[in-house]
Parts: sequence; C-alpha cells; structure tokens
Amino acid sequence: MSGKPLLVTCGLPYTNGPCHIGHLRTYVPADCYVRYMRRTGEDVVFICGSDNHGTPIVISAEQEGASPRELSERYHRHFDSTFRRMLIWFDRFGMTDDPVNHETTRSIVQRLLDRGYIYARTIRQSYCPDCSRFLPDRYVEGVCPYCGAIARGDECDQGCGQHLEPGEIRDAVCKICGAKAELREQEHYFFRLSGFKEFLLKYVPELRGTANARNYALGWVKEALHDWCITRTLDWGVRFPGRDDLVVYVWVDAPIGYISFTKEWAETAGADWTEYWCGDETRVTHFIGGDIIYHHCIFWPALLAGAGYGLPYAVVASGMVTIEGKKFSKSRGYVVWTNDDYLDQGLPPDYLRYYLLSYTNHTKELDFSWKVFQERVNNELVGTLGNFIYRTMHFAQKEFGGVPGVPAEPAIVEEIERTLGAVDASMQNYEFKNAADTMMALASFGNSYIQNAAPWKLIKQDRGAAEQVIANCLQIVKALVLLFEPLMPETAQRAWRMLGYDDRVADHGVHEATTPLGARAIAKPAPLFAKMEDAKIRDLEAILAARVGETKRMRKQAKGTVSIDLFSQLDIKVGRIVAAEPIRGSKNLYRLMIDLGDGQRQIVSGIAQFYTPDELIGRDVAVIANLEPTTIFGVESQGMILAAGDEASLIVPLRPVKPGTAVR
Ligand code: 2FM
Ligand code: ZN
Repeated sequence: MSGKPLLVTCGLPYTNGPCHIGHLRTYVPADCYVRYMRRTGEDVVFICGSDNHGTPIVISAEQEGASPRELSERYHRHFDSTFRRMLIWFDRFGMTDDPVNHETTRSIVQRLLDRGYIYARTIRQSYCPDCSRFLPDRYVEGVCPYCGAIARGDECDQGCGQHLEPGEIRDAVCKICGAKAELREQEHYFFRLSGFKEFLLKYVPELRGTANARNYALGWVKEALHDWCITRTLDWGVRFPGRDDLVVYVWVDAPIGYISFTKEWAETAGADWTEYWCGDETRVTHFIGGDIIYHHCIFWPALLAGAGYGLPYAVVASGMVTIEGKKFSKSRGYVVWTNDDYLDQGLPPDYLRYYLLSYTNHTKELDFSWKVFQERVNNELVGTLGNFIYRTMHFAQKEFGGVPGVPAEPAIVEEIERTLGAVDASMQNYEFKNAADTMMALASFGNSYIQNAAPWKLIKQDRGAAEQVIANCLQIVKALVLLFEPLMPETAQRAWRMLGYDDRVADHGVHEATTPLGARAIAKPAPLFAKMEDAKIRDLEAILAARVGETKRMRKQAKGTVSIDLFSQLDIKVGRIVAAEPIRGSKNLYRLMIDLGDGQRQIVSGIAQFYTPDELIGRDVAVIANLEPTTIFGVESQGMILAAGDEASLIVPLRPVKPGTAVR
C-alpha cells in the first residue's frame, strides 16, 4: 500500500455492438484486481464508460436509421447491465458523449494548442465525389501502403496492424457508395507526437503493468513517432475548438473519458478528482486489450504530459481470445456473446469468470472452448473446490451442528499463510492464473488432508481429535472463501453465509483468512457448484456451430451472382514465374516476374511466408492480367496471382499449357 488512492480503468467499449467474451477478457481480470486490492485495504476507484464517437458508430447508426446518440444510449445501457450481470461493478460507467467529457476534452485540446503541441496543416484526404463528402477513417477502404493488405481508412486491421493517417490509404473507395475516392485538400490539426520521443524513451521502460505493453511500446518508440492528425470531418464527436466543421479524433476524447468519468464519480462521492489525475505520484492503472497498447502507452501519456497532467502508473494488456481454436471473428460467427450465449443460457457468471482468470496468463492467447469449460467446471470447481467445502461443512453440521470453537493447528495456519503470500505476489503482478492455481492448490491440500485424516472414522474413537480435524478444515474453507471472492464473488458470498456469517464477505480483508472462525451454528450446507452435463454442453456447442454455419451461408449469398459478361471482362491467364525476390522491409511480400507469353509482368504477391523463391521459379500459375496497377511497398504490381486458403495454395494447371493460355 502506498497511501495514494488507486484508480483502475478498463478500455471503453464502442457503442455499436453487444458485449462478447473478448470484452470480458479485459474486464473480468480488472474487476478481480480491484476486488482483491480493496480486500488488502487499498482505496480503489474503478472507472469505465462507453466510447460513443468515431465513424463505426455513425455508420452503424445510419444503417439502423437511428441517431448516433440513440444507438450509443442503447448500447451504453446494454454494457452497463451486462457488466453488472457479470459482477463487474464499476464505481462510474460514463459516456464519452456526455457534457463533462465534451468540456474536459475541449479544455485539454485548448491547452495543447496554447502550449504548441497541436498545430494546423493542410493535408490531402480521401473525398467521395458522389457523396460530396470527406471520408474519414472507416468511411474509406483501400490498400495498406505498408503491406498491401486490404485495409480500412485508419488502420490496417487485416494486415500489418499499422495505424493509418488520413490520406495514407491507397486505392481508396467510399464505403457508403463504393465510388472511387479522390484526394482533396483540407486543413487539419496534428498532435506533435514526434516531439515526445525523449520523454517516452524514459517513461515507457518505467511504466508498471504487464511486460507486453512496455516492450511493444518501447519498440515502437525506438522505431519512429509520427505526428497524429487529431481532427476529422464529421458532425458526431467533440467539436474542435474554433472549428465548426471538425471534431476531434475519437482516440483523443475516448481516453480523456477516463478523466471525465473520474470527475463524474468524484462529484457524487464528494471526492477530489485531481488527487487521481494531477501531480507526480498518481496511481492510474489501465486494463486494456493488447490491440490498443500504442494508444495507451505512447499517444495517451504524451497527451497527458503535454497538457500537464499526471501520467499512467501501470498498463495491463490482455492477450487475444480465440473461439474453439479459431480466430475470434464476429463476421464469421466465432464469437461467444455474453448475454445470448452465456448468461441467458442460465450459466452462472462465476464459472466464466473463473475460466477467464485461470485459463492462461493474462498476456497470452486464451482459447474459449465449451469442452474445456466443462472440464474446468467439473474437475476444478465441482470436483476440487466445491467438494472440499461441501464435505467439510456437511460433516461439521451433521456431527457438531456447526463450527466448533477450536482454533486451527499451527501447521494449517502456516499452509494458509504460505498461500496468502503466494496469491498476493501473483495479484500484485497481474498474474491472475497463478493466483487462481495457488488458491486451487489450497483446496487440493484440504481434500488430501481430510481424506487422510478421515474424521468420519476418527470420530468413532476420538471425538476431540475429529473435532480438531474439522476445525482445521473449516479454517481452510474460510481462507478459500476469502481468497476466491475476487474471482467468484457470488459463490463466495453464498459460501460465507453457509459458514454462518450474515454480512458481506467483500467487507472482510484477506488477512482474516487465518483468524479463528469462533464457535457458531450453521445450517445444512448445499453444494456450491453444479456439474456441467454433456447434453448442456452439446446444446451450447450447437449454438456456436449454427451461427458459424449461418454466417458462412450469408457470406456466400452476399457474394451474389455475376453475369457472364462481367466475368469475361477478367483477363485470367496462365503465367510462368521466372523470378521471385523478397521486398525489403516486408515479411510477406515477393516481387514476382511472370512470363505471360507476350512479355513479362511484375506482380507483388503476399506469399513469402509460404514459399521459398526456388519453390516458385518455373511454376505455372493462374494470373489476373488486367487488374489496374497499384503500388505496394513502393513496388508497382501489374496483376494478381491466384491462390487458395490461409496458406496461399497456388492455383496451377493440371496439364502443361503455354504461358499466356487463357483460363476460361
Ligand atoms: O478499441 C476500443 O474498443 C476503444 N473503444 C477503446 C477506447 S479505450 C480508451 F482509450 F478510451
Ligand atoms: Zn498493412
């Protein structure tokens, strides 16, 4: 405990889609951490809110015929109630579109302008001549200038992950009408991120939290820092001071939301928000997904430093989620929706919380699988933890009517103390899996102890000795309940009641794990966990399989049919690869020279991960010969070779044909 209050935040969910397990991967550990820190006596405020601005929300709202505010309010309520159902309890869950955040953002932006950290520059930006508007961020789609993948206007989300500045994307098309975008000049405002290199080189290595956040951020800072364009031509958002036609980029007002929501909380709690955000020794801890490390470890601290605020103390970045071994993808159906697929199926929040916390280290990839979920529930929650608590309490109630007033023996107290120390070290280091495993090891210890001591036999010869054994076991039960509360709050509360306490377990410190229970009567205990039956798991798997099948069908339909005329406009030929060489600076790309019978073509192709140049040279492949040329990584590409699947299996002729032969 450092004496300074701790502020914990979670990345703000966008208000254009429901809560899924990918969100929970960040929020559940954050909630667990907050609960645990409170139980060690820390003064903690837990802040989050919904992220209402940005183009995806405007586009979704347009598609639904609602206003962005209406859509945001709907999803805001959805997240708020879903988090509560998952027992993730924020002290404040605000909205970035609320007045406090508009005011706070504008005042911070004004301060940055006054201090010279924001400057104006005229840039060339995508513009749709058919819709007569500029195309910010996701209004535009095109080719990533860094890796050649299809990308959206602000980010190469399917390729190299680069953040793209307005105007950077190649071959841009308007997402609304599909017209080819052109570049037009407009004055925008930039944040001088490049000026913060020295500051960040010193700040990032000292940042607490998980090593992945520090290491990635440091690598990026060492590479290069570009100034960020922080205005967008949109109506929806926080107005840029002095400009009616511009709003600030969503990544400016979203993190400022953390400050605004603290202000809103402080207002109702009678607290002072500056204690959390101003001065040298603030203790702001951000829990985020691993995909937004750049924003939180580079952009945001620079913004705060520029505006004269305190800096984040720790950034805790979670790994990604896969579903049944497949890449998480809403559009492909590989998703578990928190309400529809889990809570509304009658499943307890605590089981999923336990799975998310104990499956793997916080920074590693977490796979969600219903089979594994079943195994963890049945073996660990029912078989180990639930079993130990139930058999102990059942015996205590049946034979002694409750908790005997005998203190636990020193060896047992020492075992609990060892566990408390190990759990604390893990929690302080954001190692939730280690913490959960250590707790479960104490339950296993309890099971072995009661099994070996066999009080049900002992009682026949020596009632006093049996009483001591069960007093020891009850002390372990008390420790387990106190320790597991941050992971499984609802179950812990039930178990606490079963132990004969009538207050909230969350009001007790973890150190009480070793204080004697005192004699008390207890009611007949009930099992804490229920087995997950095979039939139920099959049903849950079927929901996922049906969704994946359905999205597959819809994707097929979405492609629709093309006329033979349209198809015949494609000039597909067999070409022979005569040269293949890597393109500097890219891991994926080759520059290929292809003989098409009537001459050679240069084609850039993203197959470098799958073939060596020798495997390619001399092969005949199918080529689209009349694609409009484009420049990828500075190299002109004059066509495309055809390949199938995730590992780019090349489409080759079965029988020999001459280069230039048409594919029909
Ligand atoms: O990536 C996201 O989902 C963003 N809505 C997170 C914002 S976090 C913060 F900076 F506001
Ligand atoms: Zn890219």
